[in-house]
Amino acid sequence: MNKVAVYRKEHFNAAHRLHSAALNDAENADVFGKCNYPNYHGHNYELIVKVTGEIDPKTGYVVDLKMLGNLIKSEIVERFDHKNLNLDVKEFKDLNPTAENIAVVIHDILRKKLDSKYDLKITLYETERNYVEFPC
Ligand code: NI
Repeated sequence: MNKVAVYRKEHFNAAHRLHSAALNDAENADVFGKCNYPNYHGHNYELIVKVTGEIDPKTGYVVDLKMLGNLIKSEIVERFDHKNLNLDVKEFKDLNPTAENIAVVIHDILRKKLDSKYDLKITLYETERNYVEFPC
């Protein structure tokens, strides 16, 4: 059977501060720059969820994109949108909310909800020019 990739884009705004307990203050400022400012700042995150699988001969779909969109909204957007990731999202209590770590957290949440017959890949844009992919 042919495998086909389908994609769903979603969007959320969230605040964060990048700070590593493994670095001192000067190192944190150096590594994270503006993202280390103590009073948080926001990003407009663009999320692309890629689901790969075989076409269901009954429906012609790999996955129902309405179902996938609803899943991303209920599991990710409602959890992250207009939140302070450091303070409001328990996954980042002890995890630096870099785009890399956010992508892994999103992947792990959705992976548990998605049938294991599908492959799942997360692309997360933190800015227009900076984005990450997991798994890669
Ligand atoms: Ni930032």
